[in-house]
Amino acid sequence: MKSILSLVGVLCGVSALVIACGGNGSSGGGVSGGETADGGVGPTSSGVTFHKDIEPILQDHCQACHSAGGIAPMSLLTYQDAQLFAGSIQVKTATRAMPPWGARSSASCKPRYAFKSDPSLTDAQIKLIADWVAGGSPEGDPKDAPAAKLPPDLGLKKPTQSNAPIAPYTLKGQGDQFRCFVIDPKIVGDAYLTGYDITPGNKTIVHHALVFSAAATEITQALDASGSYDCFGGPGLATPKLIAAWAPGTGAVDLPANVGLPLKAGTKFIMQVHYHPHANANMAPDSTTLTMRLTATRPEYTFDPELIGNFSGAIKDGIGLAADPDDRNGTPEFRIPANSSTHTETQVFTLPANLVTPVGGGAVITPQILAVGAHMHLVGVAEEVRVKHAVPMNGDPAEECLLNVPAWDFNWQRSYQYDTDITKLPYYNANDVLTVTCHYDNTMQNRALASSILEQGMTGPKDVVLGETTLDEMCLGVVGFVYKL
Ligand code: HEC
Repeated sequence: MKSILSLVGVLCGVSALVIACGGNGSSGGGVSGGETADGGVGPTSSGVTFHKDIEPILQDHCQACHSAGGIAPMSLLTYQDAQLFAGSIQVKTATRAMPPWGARSSASCKPRYAFKSDPSLTDAQIKLIADWVAGGSPEGDPKDAPAAKLPPDLGLKKPTQSNAPIAPYTLKGQGDQFRCFVIDPKIVGDAYLTGYDITPGNKTIVHHALVFSAAATEITQALDASGSYDCFGGPGLATPKLIAAWAPGTGAVDLPANVGLPLKAGTKFIMQVHYHPHANANMAPDSTTLTMRLTATRPEYTFDPELIGNFSGAIKDGIGLAADPDDRNGTPEFRIPANSSTHTETQVFTLPANLVTPVGGGAVITPQILAVGAHMHLVGVAEEVRVKHAVPMNGDPAEECLLNVPAWDFNWQRSYQYDTDITKLPYYNANDVLTVTCHYDNTMQNRALASSILEQGMTGPKDVVLGETTLDEMCLGVVGFVYKL
């Protein structure tokens, strides 16, 4: 396996992808009115009814989660279900908090391609829902109902194996804890990971999980009965390679046909789990599971997920933190001043030419960008990822916006995969500049932050810097590259 893009080493922080906890990151609200006018029976003047207009929307956009066994708190299968939540459905859809999907085009950021499996509602569908609720949320004629449909399956298709720690882990004490579980996936011959799904065992305390691969000989830590060791700050290995990540809201990750992440025979996995016990947590032991689809067939492209950003020093050789107006002493610093609602940090990563030139010669391999995600903690409110192509390839524009997340919600962290043929994906060529811009609101107006501040017994915001604890911040682009294997 060629590891062309070993960016991980230069990011101050794979180890630092520590997801702050607390707060509910709720993004509802903001829209007035919309409460259900009670008691509608037949169609109203708008003529919008549940069976004719609303049920098809719920089938295609909501029931994957809002049904028995789904991840949502309530089911939205029947008229009675929907009627009960009509006011809330109107508010959550009008604000685009539901269905949860952070990526959005804007005047300044229009990604070239749509994203795969985008469940977002159209403006017309949102209006239908609003009209239905305004009209008293009538049921209409059951004869107008769409044909029954099984909810879309969001799980990993055709998994080949599941791995969990050798024994469940019981948290000791109340503070945040980071455990690294050594897992043996028992890989013997050639194996390529083509999809995965990480399922937290005890959702009330698991706040992130990162899976790294490493040679067995690299792991020298003493392990407890669950096969784990304490790993605040990172797995503590010389060359951990990130292969999979989960944060709240991440679903199954399915790579396109012909793409796979090579795994060496005998490789071990280190699953770093960040636990955040809190007052309302259930303290049952956790056993977080990694479900994978592996194939022995060598794909044409390799998959290489990287976390880009979290630089705290000034830009040098095209890599680092850009200056911002709140810097003191004329040097860039990652500091979000207390009570600023408009602070921005900008992370810059220019791809060094030596990363695309294989050691010892051979063809230059230029990665392409398959998927992009955002990552911040609770002070974050919006993020954009852009790339400037120094030497545009294959018709790439000189500059393009890759992802815009204008209403960041800590509880919904996803990776957005472009819905296009691999040959058309944007290239990330030597000297191309990737920029991750993170916007923060460090005031009590930021609801996710405010609830965390109160949970911590603090009275108001403080200056926030780059780091790992709940009220620290991050600014990362989560980029899934593909390149010829
Ligand atoms: C990917 C899974 C998923 C999809 C798809 C989804 N939801 Fe949700 N929904 C959730 C989860 C989880 C929650 C609870 C946590 C939250 O609010 O983020 C929720 C909460 C809600 C709530 C708030 C419930 C309350 O307590 O008032 C409403 C209303 C809602 N969803 C409506 C919808 C509608 C309408 C759709 C489709 C247009 C939809 N959801 C699609 C997962 C989903």
